[in-house]
Amino acid sequence: MDPETVKDGSGQIICNRTRELSLEEQSRLLSDTNCVSEFKQNKLELEAQKNWDLFYKRNTTKFFKDRHWTKREFEELASSSTDTGKTLVLFEVGCGVGNFIFPLLEDGSNLFVFACDFSQRAVDFVKSHSSFDSNHCTVFQADITKDDSTATVPMETVDIATMIFVLSAIHPDKMIKSIINVAKALKPGGHILIRDYGLYDHAMLRFSKGHKLSDCFYVRQDGTRAYYFSLEQLRSVMEQAGLQTVNTTYIQRSTVNIKEGIDVPRIFVQGKFLKPFPTQSTSGLS
Ligand SMILES: C[S@@+](CC[C@H](N)C(=O)[O-])C[C@H]1O[C@@H](n2cnc3c(N)ncnc32)[C@H](O)[C@@H]1O
Repeated sequence: MDPETVKDGSGQIICNRTRELSLEEQSRLLSDTNCVSEFKQNKLELEAQKNWDLFYKRNTTKFFKDRHWTKREFEELASSSTDTGKTLVLFEVGCGVGNFIFPLLEDGSNLFVFACDFSQRAVDFVKSHSSFDSNHCTVFQADITKDDSTATVPMETVDIATMIFVLSAIHPDKMIKSIINVAKALKPGGHILIRDYGLYDHAMLRFSKGHKLSDCFYVRQDGTRAYYFSLEQLRSVMEQAGLQTVNTTYIQRSTVNIKEGIDVPRIFVQGKFLKPFPTQSTSGLS
């Protein structure tokens, strides 16, 4: 393990360098030069909402696991515990069926949560969850690439916005606009917390030919799309949207896939970004 690499208490490896590829992996990536046709790419963009809705029709609430690691990874969420007496306002963008918000709400955190998702079906699953309480949560359908977030979330009222495996689902040309939209709801001094797929993640290397949309951007069998971020790319999107980088890191984990009998190297990116006060920098934010 090199000096820039740290293993945390949960066994994850935290580092600032991209994973090194084997020669076989390098040549496989380099040989995948043909991108999906422009016609098909436009169709995927037009049908993005339908494809996520069908995803939840097929998988219901069974696909993603509850995310119990969030307070460990993001210290500002831990400060939402009841003992501080302070109610944090959270905006969870692309909430899916609530795997991020319900573990936080269930352990008594002092939170008010705004949550939105592209898929009406996912929003309905959140509303019908046994722990859903409209006194602590407002959930609504929205396309964060174009629907004004402040139509539902009052402007500059949010302490923390979270995007967990969501930015990667958005077309790269629309990422900056989406972040500007999220940041409108954020208080100056508030943060956006991001966890997403990282460059050379196992899933990226597994795409067969015919799934590449552009550099680091792929379409899955079901029509949903995934971008695989380098730390530089993530920082570039956030900073062009007017946010300041507080920290970013790669997270490497091994996931044992018992069915396939393999140890799968997962790579994620994680970052914390600050909405500056107007005097500090206002570029990109409106
Ligand atoms: C990989 S899932 C992650 C769900 C959830 N954040 C979690 O961690 O379990 C990506 C989610 O982003 C949502 N999404 C994709 N594009 C979106 C958009 N333009 N606006 C709002 N949500 C979007 C999808 O509907 C889906 O629920």
